[in-house]
Amino acid sequence: MASRSSLVTTTTAVFSFLILYLANITAKHRHSTTNDHHHHQHDSSASNPRLQQAYLALQAWKLVIYSDPFNTTSDWIGPSVCSYTGIYCAPYPNDTNIQTVAGIDLNHADIAGFLPNELGLLSDLALLHLNSNRFCGILPLTLSNLTLLFELDLSNNRFVGPFPSVVMSLPSLKFLDLRFNEFEGPLPPELFNKNLDAIFINSNRLTSVIPSNLGSSTASVVVFANNNLGGCLPPSIANFANTMEELLLINTNISGCLPQEVGFLYKLRVLDVSSNKLVGEIPYSIAGLAHLEQLNLGHNMMSGVVPLGVCELPNLVNFTFSYNYFFEEEGVCGNLTSVGIVADDRRNCLPERPLQRSKKECDAVLEHPVDCFELPCGHTHIHDAGNRH
Ligand SMILES: *[C@@H]1O[C@H](CO)[C@@H](O)[C@H](O)[C@H]1NC(C)=O
Ligand SMILES: *[C@@H]1O[C@H](CO)[C@@H](O)[C@H](O)[C@H]1NC(C)=O
Ligand SMILES: *[C@@H]1O[C@H](CO)[C@@H](O)[C@H](O)[C@H]1NC(C)=O
Ligand SMILES: *[C@@H]1O[C@H](CO)[C@@H](O)[C@H](O)[C@H]1NC(C)=O
Ligand SMILES: *[C@@H]1O[C@H](CO)[C@@H](O)[C@H](O)[C@H]1NC(C)=O
Ligand SMILES: *[C@@H]1O[C@H](CO)[C@@H](O)[C@H](O)[C@H]1NC(C)=O
Repeated sequence: MASRSSLVTTTTAVFSFLILYLANITAKHRHSTTNDHHHHQHDSSASNPRLQQAYLALQAWKLVIYSDPFNTTSDWIGPSVCSYTGIYCAPYPNDTNIQTVAGIDLNHADIAGFLPNELGLLSDLALLHLNSNRFCGILPLTLSNLTLLFELDLSNNRFVGPFPSVVMSLPSLKFLDLRFNEFEGPLPPELFNKNLDAIFINSNRLTSVIPSNLGSSTASVVVFANNNLGGCLPPSIANFANTMEELLLINTNISGCLPQEVGFLYKLRVLDVSSNKLVGEIPYSIAGLAHLEQLNLGHNMMSGVVPLGVCELPNLVNFTFSYNYFFEEEGVCGNLTSVGIVADDRRNCLPERPLQRSKKECDAVLEHPVDCFELPCGHTHIHDAGNRH
């Protein structure tokens, strides 16, 4: 997985003032871990209205925390909010004489509770990390007040309800991690038009198809695994080309053929579309993905030839295509381990290879070949398909 710090550094040019702000938080963060409890005079909310608001917000939050097994919030007492565990202050970007709450990091605190409306008072927050807690309910709409929020990590909690559209109104957001919650229903198409670097929404109960009108997304990491998206991967995936490095669509109930346009994602390092209902051949365009390291097509219904061009990709280290209906491997594709590539070709229809499907199983599928030009999206005719013959 891409490290968070690399994601932050890629956007430094654009958000230089935010980055300085973030750097300050990080420095504080490091400082605090050395057990140094020395605090600046301005850190008290008594003389600083921004910290006063933060004090109100954090006290309101503490009231709706019902379980805190590691006593993380037990020092959330009194006006010195910058000394609270998990709270990080930094100079306010536009007036560095003022301290303000810039980051909250309660990762792995196992806290149970809600997010109250008062969190909207933390209007200077740049980082909110609540990974691995038991926060539940929905996100308050007042979060739209957090106009400097850059990283939002709510992963591994118990949030419910529709996709939290309030995240769409956060103008500075770059990193969105909602995985392992219980958000349900359709994904808003606008999500793909937002200027995000990383989108993690895997392991929720989201349902909608990937929008075919995908705008020019700027995300480098998109992880949708374990949702019931359905539908096809649209050709508009090509609009991610200038940024996309990791695309993980594992177990998302997508069907149809992989579009040739995945081959336009020239920066791709990881492509994992395993455990879906994909049919048809491997688009030859994948042979052009010079940076591709991990390719997983396993557990689909793909067939045809495994093309040499893909097996010869210069950076490929792991190519899994087991549990499909491929019937031929070109050249070295049949012996990838001999060139140092981890490979899995089990349970296909490869005549010369061990651990394949039975002839009966293969015939049942291979008697009905799928023509991806005729049927780009599985069983649905696309009327304006340009490549009819
Ligand atoms: C948290 O505080 C309670 C009450 O003071 C104490 O009984 C418990 O042992 C503390 N737990 C931890 C993990 O420090
Ligand atoms: C900081 O000042 C700039 C220019 O004066 C302004 O555009 C921006 O909105 C201000 N940012 C905040 C967070 O107040
Ligand atoms: C939004 O933030 C401002 C301070 O920047 C605060 O005065 C206001 O009450 C906040 N609004 C909400 C809904 O929390
Ligand atoms: C998978 O998606 C299709 C639409 O493409 C839908 O009809 C079907 O119900 C979905 N499967 C499940 C298990 O929900
Ligand atoms: C190769 O990829 C498969 C599928 O993603 C994974 O299960 C396996 O652990 C990987 N092997 C190595 C050695 O990385
Ligand atoms: C794969 O290649 C290796 C080394 O080149 C060779 O020893 C081995 O017999 C080959 N395996 C198959 C199944 O062709």
